[in-house]
Amino acid sequence: MHVLGIAGYNHDAAAALMRDGELVAAAEEERFTRIKHQDGFPYRAIQYCLKEAEVQESSVDYVVYANNLWGNFGKMLAYAKSFHEAPVYTTGFALRDLYTRMWITFLMRMLSNTGGGGPRLRFVDHHLAHMGSSFFVSPFESAAVLSIDSLGDGDTTVLGHGEGQRLKKLSRVNYPHSIAEMYCCVTNYLGFPTQDEYKVMGLASYGEARYLERLRRLVRFLDKGRYRIDTRYFQTHRRPGRFLGYVSRRFIDEFGPMRREDARIEQRHKDMAASLQKLFEETVFHCLRALHRMTGEKRLCLCGGAAQNSVMNGKILLETPFQEIYVPPAPGDSGGSIGAASYFSYGVLQQRRGFVMRTADWGPSFSETQIKAVLDESKSRYSRSEDVAADAAALLAKGYIVGWYQGRMEFGPRALGARSILADPTRPNMTDIVNRDVKHREDFRPFAPSVLREYVDEYFFGHHEAPFMSYVWGVRPDKAAAIPAVVHIDKTARVQTVERDDNALYWEVIKRFEKLKGVPVVLNTSFNVKGEPIVCTPRDAVRCFFSTGLDCLVIGPFVLKKEVLRATG
Ligand SMILES: [Fe+2]
Repeated sequence: MHVLGIAGYNHDAAAALMRDGELVAAAEEERFTRIKHQDGFPYRAIQYCLKEAEVQESSVDYVVYANNLWGNFGKMLAYAKSFHEAPVYTTGFALRDLYTRMWITFLMRMLSNTGGGGPRLRFVDHHLAHMGSSFFVSPFESAAVLSIDSLGDGDTTVLGHGEGQRLKKLSRVNYPHSIAEMYCCVTNYLGFPTQDEYKVMGLASYGEARYLERLRRLVRFLDKGRYRIDTRYFQTHRRPGRFLGYVSRRFIDEFGPMRREDARIEQRHKDMAASLQKLFEETVFHCLRALHRMTGEKRLCLCGGAAQNSVMNGKILLETPFQEIYVPPAPGDSGGSIGAASYFSYGVLQQRRGFVMRTADWGPSFSETQIKAVLDESKSRYSRSEDVAADAAALLAKGYIVGWYQGRMEFGPRALGARSILADPTRPNMTDIVNRDVKHREDFRPFAPSVLREYVDEYFFGHHEAPFMSYVWGVRPDKAAAIPAVVHIDKTARVQTVERDDNALYWEVIKRFEKLKGVPVVLNTSFNVKGEPIVCTPRDAVRCFFSTGLDCLVIGPFVLKKEVLRATG
């Protein structure tokens, strides 16, 4: 039984294929088109999934879309509500939305008509797909489930419960009341593009939450974990925010002018970021405490775009009664592809659950011959290593920035040791060097550590595994000085734990590095050129290597070094 899940209605299109209840392949469309957050129909991701599974379109039994494109009237109702305020915008938006739904349905029909019987088409409610992407691939037999999103099929926040093969919604918040969208609006107000909410999260550590009291008045907590937003302060639900701004005149009158994208970041921007982050956390914890009361569960599965807020995620076990947590590698919309496939496989077809997602490596891999062909074509000088882990660790210890390209590409927004840029975290200036030579990103954004699972307690205030870099934890004071390049200004870090059983080669690199430098931690950031998606093919990796200040590339068994290596810091 093959079930193909598709997601990405407005952004982050992706496909995932399950065979008899086991995930076989998953990838985001952006990795193939090389356009970040690629929306639309994931043609190439579908092609990849079918190729990986060695099946034809006609052998797929079901194609399942992670939005209920035709069966949900909640969103229609949301349009109707704002029609009297902005008739032209509402009509235009509704028409565009209708066109998108028709186009995607048409393409799915085309897919289902290819050869023979072809797959049957199904649609899954957006939040059920999110919830499926977390609960159904978690190790939990039963758990509370929280999905927080800007908007999906009319809902913005859904509190639910999963048990065995069943997932049900217990309570929900409807659009336009959306704490995730409020975060998105203030991100825009602070001069960052939407989708870049993580930058505001990073900036928050530099500010004081002095706007919190005033911001609190914009959110009213209700029973059953619901809440209402004072929508007079925002205008995305009735104006094209992209052109007119996401916050309303009322917000600007109260909190001051918007920051232009190229303007200096002032203290008040940092303070607003800190206040927003705090309000967001308070709202999510309000939902979670109610969810705990409603379900009595100690275990939590988190999902939806807002579950990418790793600062909030890292506080959940401290601030709420939940004792165990699972966050999948792609809690956002791309992960809806896995959610749609898993919800349909387990929840509808009632296939037996047994699959647990312990790794994010579900994308394409390339053979030694394929990699060698690309290196030869680019006239690169390279050597073949007998022990890539040892060689990579030695290069890191010498202070070089290493492009690390091994095995299957990760699914989700994080590089987790398959398509990563690695560096030595013990050097205080390494953050600046990696930023100057390769990443060119804002200096307030921290780099993340990958730590051997067995040492996580020793270095961080985190007591459980974090294979997908989903949590920000405090760094233990006696260890902060040992890994200065991965410690944020507030003495925290977004940690990835690396388990030998799940990622043997990457574990080996860190272990070898520990033998050389005495710390079981490396700096890990995504392998990409600024503004582009993470590299997918060997050609992407070679292009990134030669067009940035990377010193070395360890790709498959091959090691490349730049002709003139810079002086180490
Ligand atoms: Fe979503």
